[in-house]
Amino acid sequence: MNKVGIIGAGQMGGGIAIVCALAGFPVELVDRDKTRLAATAKRIKAILARRIERGRIDKAHADKAQKLIKSGNAIKAMADCDIVIEAVAEKEEVKRAVLAELAPHLGKNAIIATNTSTISITRLAAATDRADRFIGLHFMNPVPAMKLVEIIRGIATSDATFKTVRDFTVKLGKEPVRVEDFPAFIVHRVLMPMINEAIYALYEGVATMESIDQAMRLGANHPMGPLELADFMGLDTCLQVMQALNDGLADSKYRPCPLLVKYVEAGWLGRKTGRGFYDYSGEKPVPTR
Ligand code: NAI
Repeated sequence: MNKVGIIGAGQMGGGIAIVCALAGFPVELVDRDKTRLAATAKRIKAILARRIERGRIDKAHADKAQKLIKSGNAIKAMADCDIVIEAVAEKEEVKRAVLAELAPHLGKNAIIATNTSTISITRLAAATDRADRFIGLHFMNPVPAMKLVEIIRGIATSDATFKTVRDFTVKLGKEPVRVEDFPAFIVHRVLMPMINEAIYALYEGVATMESIDQAMRLGANHPMGPLELADFMGLDTCLQVMQALNDGLADSKYRPCPLLVKYVEAGWLGRKTGRGFYDYSGEKPVPTR
């Protein structure tokens, strides 16, 4: 594994680029949106500067990482990459189109990985010419801070691909776990029904928003309450994961809470829109119910 391509320079693509460059891999970061590329370049600089400030890396290491990241619009810049990680928006038709366009530009041994949170790896693999060299590589947000990577094998993923990708994640300083190709993998499958249940508890009037969060912080030792966490992750993302579980597993226990649906319909998506279960417009977050 010598060179890494990343397609989609958003929240996740930018984070993955930093982690790869800090581990010494040259990176081609590609996005169709120039404004997004510029914003991500700025964010990468700021994250590296913060790491120097905190004494986590020295300036020479940061400068080297910065130089290893090249960015642009052209997919063909990834022609000599040994692995390309797809991190575009979580929409199956968008991902399939990007993957179908990408594959013919790559060398025949190159591996394609997807950072999808909810879409079947086996289905996405079918949009490429290399299902045996296709795999799920689910990084957590924020990528530089989170140790875990879920590695998801599609039905056709080869042992050699799995092993190469697992070794690669270890070189990135991550802790990989192996997952089979089931909806929402491990973390979201276990975490999101808990968050959904907390929203049901609020919806049914079991307790106030603050009591639910306080109870889970102090009673279950969670660093954040489930409603706070939902706001942090984005309520649209939470709903998307619940829908994927509901559709993929057809068990009524995964039914998204109607209150979650309503908040998303209202455009109250959490921290990123300034309002979700809490209102973030003032100095301190205030419950909205
Ligand atoms: P984002 O919206 O921040 O970034 C997506 C980027 O893809 C944008 O910059 C967009 O311009 C670019 N893009 C879209 N279509 C493109 C195309 N055809 N060609 C090139 N670039 C294109 O999204 P985010 O949050 O980074 O998510 C990316 C993936 O990572 C999704 O699959 C998501 O489910 C997954 N993920 C997200 C997490 C999160 O907390 N944000 C956590 C783990 C996985």
